[in-house]
Amino acid sequence: MDNKKYEAEINNSKSLVQLNELEIKYLGRNGEINKLLSAIKDIPNEEKREYGQKVNLLKTSIVRSIEMMKKKLSSKKSEVFFDKTMPGKAYPKGSLHIVSFAIEEITNVFEKIGFIRVSYPEVDWEYGAFESLNMPANHPARDDVETSFIDTPAHKTLGKMVLTPHTSNGQNREMKRVGKPPIRMINISKCYRPNWDATHTPMFHQFEGLCVDKDISIVNLKGTLDYFAEKYFGKGTKTRLRPHHFQFTEPSFEVDISCNVCGGKGTVRNAYMRSLQKCKVCKSGWLELGGTGMVHPNVLKEGGIDSKKYSGWAFGFGIERVIMMKYGLDDIRNYYSGDIRFLEQF
Ligand code: DAH
Repeated sequence: MDNKKYEAEINNSKSLVQLNELEIKYLGRNGEINKLLSAIKDIPNEEKREYGQKVNLLKTSIVRSIEMMKKKLSSKKSEVFFDKTMPGKAYPKGSLHIVSFAIEEITNVFEKIGFIRVSYPEVDWEYGAFESLNMPANHPARDDVETSFIDTPAHKTLGKMVLTPHTSNGQNREMKRVGKPPIRMINISKCYRPNWDATHTPMFHQFEGLCVDKDISIVNLKGTLDYFAEKYFGKGTKTRLRPHHFQFTEPSFEVDISCNVCGGKGTVRNAYMRSLQKCKVCKSGWLELGGTGMVHPNVLKEGGIDSKKYSGWAFGFGIERVIMMKYGLDDIRNYYSGDIRFLEQF
């Protein structure tokens, strides 16, 4: 039997299937090796021993060659036909969380009109969260803002540490950072209040606008709110101010925006019954956005700003809340449920 021939045959095999056929051909029950072994009976006795040894050596060598080739072929890339014109596999794509996306959108809207995005601490002293905002210790208005205190020794003048219940703590810090007006701040940060229901989570986000300069009036405030409402909620969205009370603004207001579902009318036409029905989203044509007002002189003074020379306005709105209003969502807890079916809609 020709050693060279079987070796060439094995080493030239192109696939595992072909190699398998060769294995059967040489080592199978009716294979070449068995044929050679059974031919031993026709070999003269004195040559039988040498003949047997030769055949066994040949067998070991074939087994080894086949094993080596098997390894080589299985490490090769799959031989399945590859069609380059087929569309690729679509891998699941990640995206920004709905809150991060809204933060980017809101930042863009305000940066276009010269506001500077800042992010002030989530943990602050009582001074930043209250005193600097015209809310002295024991003032009843503090009770309206449920607050989580941090278990650390109180500071001599700045008070206890708190998880910031609102972004208004950025006002005093920004006045001190900038020093001399003009100030145009958009402070976006996490806030904490111990509530948990369809419209409240213990951690949420607010964006706080602050504008201080010479001759700043309610007209500037209203114009900025109208600009934001149109840019963020869509063309035609209007705002209105309702008198309210906050310690850090005078006068103070609550801001509403016109409802996009009914166009601010408060009623929608029922297509089937051809009748007018109360809008289920707003019931009145308006949706509450948050608080605003002209910065209280005491707050300006505390920030080192001459309230005779300068005036300003401020507002504070919830990020989760404006998202709910924009997309008509009814449960804020979904944002933080981690449920991908909810999150991937945005
Ligand atoms: N800090 C207030 C809150 O969390 C919201 C607010 C109201 C902020 C009036 C302001 C403002 O800047 O002027 O309820």
